[in-house]
Amino acid sequence: MTHQEKFEELRRRNARAEQGGGEERRARQAAEGKISARERLELLFDEDTFEETDKLVEHHSQDFGLADQRIPGDGVVTGSGRINARLAFAFAQDFTVFGGSLSEANAAKICKAMDLAMKVGAPIIGLNDSGGARIQEGVASLAGYADIFLRNTLASGVVPQISAILGPCAGGAVYSPAITDFTFMVENTSCMFVTGPDVIKTVMHENVTKEELGGAMTHNSTSGVAHFIAHDDPDCLALIRELLSFIPQNNREDPPRLDSADPADRRDDSLDTLVPPESDKPYDIREIIHRVVDGGAFLEVQELFAKNLVVGFARLGGQSVGIVANQPSVLAGCLDINASVKGARFVRFCDAFNIPLVTFEDVPGFLPGSAQEFGGIIRHGAKLLYAFAEATVPKITVITRKAYGGAYCVMASKHIRTDVNYAYPTAEIAVMGPEGAVNIVYRRELQKADDQAKLRAEKVEEFRRRFANPFVAAERGYIDAVIEPRDTRPKLIAALRMLENKRDTNPPKKHGNIPL
Ligand code: HXC
Repeated sequence: MTHQEKFEELRRRNARAEQGGGEERRARQAAEGKISARERLELLFDEDTFEETDKLVEHHSQDFGLADQRIPGDGVVTGSGRINARLAFAFAQDFTVFGGSLSEANAAKICKAMDLAMKVGAPIIGLNDSGGARIQEGVASLAGYADIFLRNTLASGVVPQISAILGPCAGGAVYSPAITDFTFMVENTSCMFVTGPDVIKTVMHENVTKEELGGAMTHNSTSGVAHFIAHDDPDCLALIRELLSFIPQNNREDPPRLDSADPADRRDDSLDTLVPPESDKPYDIREIIHRVVDGGAFLEVQELFAKNLVVGFARLGGQSVGIVANQPSVLAGCLDINASVKGARFVRFCDAFNIPLVTFEDVPGFLPGSAQEFGGIIRHGAKLLYAFAEATVPKITVITRKAYGGAYCVMASKHIRTDVNYAYPTAEIAVMGPEGAVNIVYRRELQKADDQAKLRAEKVEEFRRRFANPFVAAERGYIDAVIEPRDTRPKLIAALRMLENKRDTNPPKKHGNIPL
């Protein structure tokens, strides 16, 4: 080859890689409302920062006619670039090349990107759009998946891992996104399932569509597999960029701190009347969050799943925080199985990546009922307790109203190493609600009483006066200060600043045994 021919060969190969599976297949993708793998990466990264690697990698398989079908890149685009000016790695599966299926060669490309991300301590983002294991390659492809799963596991808690499902993701392929920290899905174009509708029909005689079984809505609202739902590909990629802005590059860094135009000493009088005086009247805890955080900006995680617990990211005085809040307007804010699992995973993410936790508490207890008991609320509820207790990041709690029973202990109480515990004057801290307590403690007296209703009302009132307030806990130091709701923002920011250099550790161990 002449000097000139080598240059031309490079250009030819690059152009071939960029064509992917050809015009017809690309048009088919577009008709389905999807953009191409390269367009996705352009939107994910800051303009002109993406550096592609392994663009010329090809598979070396000979079976099932693969020998004559080689496309440079082999169905996945990998590389690194800048997101909000910070380094990140990504891979984007190209559905136009063998259905984006995973081959030995393209798995090696993904693993190379993951290994580099780990070495330099930067997030890795997977844009999944694939028919799964490349059928023609058999076990070599399965091995490729296992290589990725291993890296996902080792990278967990070291660098942030994000998965976007932008097309099909089926069979064992789902387990890579499942191990990563956050999964994004797109309405109408993405689906995830272990076994698809056809197999389910054959084996279970059950008719279910792809969308019903594993669409974005199913996994965001019912299964809890996904954390975010987007309208289309560009919306999804913008959301990933937003999420990354709250998160550090790796577990040895602190999250990025932004200058906040919102004054740290901003008080909000409207907070004083936001919690209703009636202890069973619902209100939306997100109202409190929005009024307290910088600019009212709150990125809610798993917004459609277990709505009785609200979790997400915000900033206070420019400092990134993870917020966990009971939601009194859904199931009265009770903790159930799904809420416990959702909260535990979020708390552990924040703890792994040095993001302080701010908890807003209004919880009447764990959800009663045989469905919850049979489903294992004991072991699932324990996950949230374990996660809060184990977390060593700065932890601050504000009790807005109810803090009853075991849920009081679980929701980042002083006793499980929470650094600063505040309560509003409206807080009620007790073993259980007044009615339940009176029915148990005064059962005999009530049975004998001529006027049961009157006695019950008197005792309930007495119980309320004695226990349904924050002062008993404050007298013991379980609450550091009873604060006026209007002061929430300045108090939280002052506490975060005080805790800036907090160092706390857990006893040396290989790892704990969280009740899974
Ligand atoms: C090789 C594949 C492929 C695969 C799709 N293609 N999946 N090639 N291996 N796994 C190719 C098709 O032959 C086709 O090639 C092109 O990709 C587009 O596929 P279509 O079927 O035309 O697309 P569509 O109608 O949109 O259907 C998409 C699909 C379907 C639902 C994903 O292709 C499908 O069911 N594929 C097989 C899925 C599957 O069972 N995979 C194995 C899962 S098990 P042409 O040349 O016509 O464009 C698994 C194990 C992982 O992945 C193990 C981890 C432990």
